[in-house]
Amino acid sequence: MDNKPVILNHPLIQHKLTFLRDKNTGSKEFREMITEIAMLMCYEATRDLELEEVEVETPMATAHTKVIAGRKLAAVPILRAGLGMVDGIINMIPAAKVGHIGMYRDPETAKPVEYYCKLPNDIQERDVLVLDPMLATGGSAVDAINLIKDRGVTSIKFLCIIAAPEGLRYLLTSHPDVQIYCAALDDHLDDHKYIIPGLGDAGDRIFGTK
Ligand code: PRP
Ligand code: URA
Repeated sequence: MDNKPVILNHPLIQHKLTFLRDKNTGSKEFREMITEIAMLMCYEATRDLELEEVEVETPMATAHTKVIAGRKLAAVPILRAGLGMVDGIINMIPAAKVGHIGMYRDPETAKPVEYYCKLPNDIQERDVLVLDPMLATGGSAVDAINLIKDRGVTSIKFLCIIAAPEGLRYLLTSHPDVQIYCAALDDHLDDHKYIIPGLGDAGDRIFGTK
């Protein structure tokens, strides 16, 4: 697989991302924008799905047309902030199953701490889209993907909205087989491992905490 990260610089995504970054955007609009961006990212991340030919009767004639074939999908958000992207994905792919991985970053070390993991029983038969708006140090994404691979999954894509160079490098070297999609590659991490300029704490902005 060509593992070069895909940066989604589509004008609709970039426009919506501006609202996400704006500190004056409230939680309702923030959630709506994350859902819409996830929907647009899903469109790009599923570009390589296999199709098969079928026939349907239109009111006029028989049409030779196509439906999605082959392996099924699962979406796995990393809690909490990844939850914000789920609706956008399952709106596009209603048959996708959804697993959940709970992780938070220890405020002292910025290392991920796992607190929950519930994945579909047949996840090893599915193509998996891992969802998290923020890729900062990359620790949460790398550990979450380790958990998913431990369940026998061989086809994984990682969808984030903003990535830092540090996290992108760590994820690429740790999981070179995982295709990464992001809407923006930002500048750097600050001393607390927050993305600059970023959008702040994604979980807090989605759920109105803090
Ligand atoms: C955020 C974000 C990622 C993680 C990214 O979660 O949603 O999961 O940080 O940082 P990393 O790349 O350095 O691991 P957070 O730990 O703030 O938990 P929350 O979503 O529950 O607020
Ligand atoms: N988690 C966030 O929510 N934002 C950051 O900038 C880094 C980690």
